[in-house]
Amino acid sequence: MNARKPVTLHRLREMHAAGEKIAMLTCYDAAFARVLDEAGIDVLLIGDSLGMVLKGQATTLAVSMEEMAYHTGCVARGNRSAWVISDMPFGSYQESPQLAFHNAARLMSQGAQMVKLEGGSWTAPIVRFLTERGIPVCAHLGFTPQSVNALGGYRVQGRDEAAARALKADAGQLVEAGAAMLLLEMIPAALAQELTNATPVPVIGIGAGSGCSGQVLVLHDMLGLTQGTAFRFVRNFLDGSASIDLAVRQYVADVKSGRFPDNTLHGF
Ligand code: KIV
Repeated sequence: MNARKPVTLHRLREMHAAGEKIAMLTCYDAAFARVLDEAGIDVLLIGDSLGMVLKGQATTLAVSMEEMAYHTGCVARGNRSAWVISDMPFGSYQESPQLAFHNAARLMSQGAQMVKLEGGSWTAPIVRFLTERGIPVCAHLGFTPQSVNALGGYRVQGRDEAAARALKADAGQLVEAGAAMLLLEMIPAALAQELTNATPVPVIGIGAGSGCSGQVLVLHDMLGLTQGTAFRFVRNFLDGSASIDLAVRQYVADVKSGRFPDNTLHGF
């Protein structure tokens, strides 16, 4: 029996302000949604990483709106209390705010409570359009997997001073446009810490060190199912745990206590 109160955007904002860490994992189906929710995960992300982990594709680029809507519905039906974010797949928002609204509304009708989209200040008009129409937006900055070809592979972002400055400017403009959450992927820990301290909304990190308001990992990675070599910032929580439930509870406990991630293993 899950007695937890539903996690709301207001609660996530309070956690950010109080320095209480937010534990987030990706999730793609109802069975895992139930396990993760009951283990105390605050936020479930239906990531377009499903193209890689479920479909075996090399990138996230071929994930469709149909697939995102289907998996969002599955997760929403298995979940009771966690906040649910759904990724806007490649091609579903870049063209215009109107197209973005049409597709985001589809995800919201399947049970998403917020949508996530990738990109810097060029997405600000889209963020504003969605936010003004009642759709909370998480802005994904740093390494943005849908731009893997333009970025020249899986590379750390924001390393030099100019890149760090640009990233900070992007974050400021997106929050000003209404983004209710930021997600920072593969950036230096010091930069992520600085951005988190300066931002009024929760900042979730993946490969961004321990200074963010919360952490996210791809579910299959934290269960040791990574295909190929895992990034250094990934930890296999199933290793040494007797069950998936206990592995997820350990992840929640380690994020909340600050034991995960370990900045000495961050590497950048
Ligand atoms: O698609 C996804 O799983 C993501 C995470 C890597 C944050 O965007």
